[in-house]
Amino acid sequence: MAIEICGGNRIQGEIEIQGSKNAVLPMMAAALLCDGETVIRHCPDITDVHAMAGVIRGIGGKVTFQKGELKIFSGSVESSSVEEKAVKEIRASVLLLGAMLSRFGTVQIQYPGGCSIGSRPIDLHLKAFRTLGIKTREGEEYIECREEKNFPFTGKEIREKRVSLAFPSVGATENVLLLAVKREGITILENAAREPEIVELCHFLCDMGARIEGAGTKEIRIEGVKKLHPVMWYLSSDRIALFSYSMLVAGCGGDAFFRTRENIPLAEEEVLLRIGCLIEKEEKGIHIRKEGPIGAIPYLCTKPYPGFPTDGQSPLMAVLSRANGVSTIEEGIFENRLRMISQLKKMGADIDTVSNRARITGVTKLHGAKVYADDLRSGAGLLIAAAMAEGETVVEQEEYIYRGYEKVEKTLRELGVIVR
Ligand code: UD1
Repeated sequence: MAIEICGGNRIQGEIEIQGSKNAVLPMMAAALLCDGETVIRHCPDITDVHAMAGVIRGIGGKVTFQKGELKIFSGSVESSSVEEKAVKEIRASVLLLGAMLSRFGTVQIQYPGGCSIGSRPIDLHLKAFRTLGIKTREGEEYIECREEKNFPFTGKEIREKRVSLAFPSVGATENVLLLAVKREGITILENAAREPEIVELCHFLCDMGARIEGAGTKEIRIEGVKKLHPVMWYLSSDRIALFSYSMLVAGCGGDAFFRTRENIPLAEEEVLLRIGCLIEKEEKGIHIRKEGPIGAIPYLCTKPYPGFPTDGQSPLMAVLSRANGVSTIEEGIFENRLRMISQLKKMGADIDTVSNRARITGVTKLHGAKVYADDLRSGAGLLIAAAMAEGETVVEQEEYIYRGYEKVEKTLRELGVIVR
């Protein structure tokens, strides 16, 4: 199977923006920090959530998912060793390190997988753990971490431990949070990631009874508590899905209404405006309209939040391939995220790359071709390019797209795209 799109239609329609993938995955790990049933509503029906559910079931948790409601009962989790094959399929399984360390004081897990968008090491996670007195061992297949009982903390350190990340890694920030919320004393995390998903995780943990200050800033202060309790949570909308569908409007022209409670982050809004979109915020969502030529973007580099997100880069690149002028995009986070270019070129795009920089000369039209996704966001970029192109495009390896986009064919049809 592949996704077949007959391009050229204008976009017209209204959709609900799915719940946030990158927010729900760490929350699923956080559910292991208490013993009752955690309920997450507005949860996206995507394969990454199902893979994470499989991993949690593998260690004894009970997980159900019905009509957007995810329930995790963690009282039955009893194994500190994660053997599940699914660990290899999903990068977010690395977050079980912090959660299981918190629960059992020890964890053994296979190396996590995920999209092949670069080397994706976990050195920052492990270094932060070691600073906090965790012993780590990286075997050939497994990582083992455990609390070191007699770690020589002295004086003030017994109450207050500082850990500083060399780079504001999203996953490492989440892992430190998961480890620290139930640890004795105060943990101060410096150079923390500031992504909205980090802020949402902190709010979620605070609802469970955690004490966290500084979420959304570079310094997060966590005061350990003895016990956390389960909560019911309504998940925010996925800002990357919102940006991706906005790019569909930008690329094809048209008018769409996106039901969401959140705003478009500033960096994405700026890009939409530069391309020439009209954005109208309403009580129940966001209206995006686009007429006329696509504006080029002379230079843009992907950065940690509040910079422009690497996850939005491929959808943007697809749109800029038909811009009026030359654009330059530098991928500043994941080295393999320019691989989609070889596929866009099959569709007639004019793009040159030097190292992690792409120079995109807008062409007047794209044409249909047989292409393949090699990660989640390149898949989204190719779907957008397919909808913009003349003729039929077949997007293969669509399983990458299902990792993060809920009912993508149905959603595209609701927006007026012809999906066969
Ligand atoms: C998360 C998101 C992903 C997003 C990324 C950057 C989830 C489930 N995934 O991934 O969609 O693209 O943030 O916004 O939330 N790095 C190291 N050592 C480490 C950790 C990271 O060198 O120990 C490097 C990575 O290789 C990469 C950069 O830091 O170059 C960013 O990684 P990180 O912020 O950790 O991303 P993830 O948490 O994997």
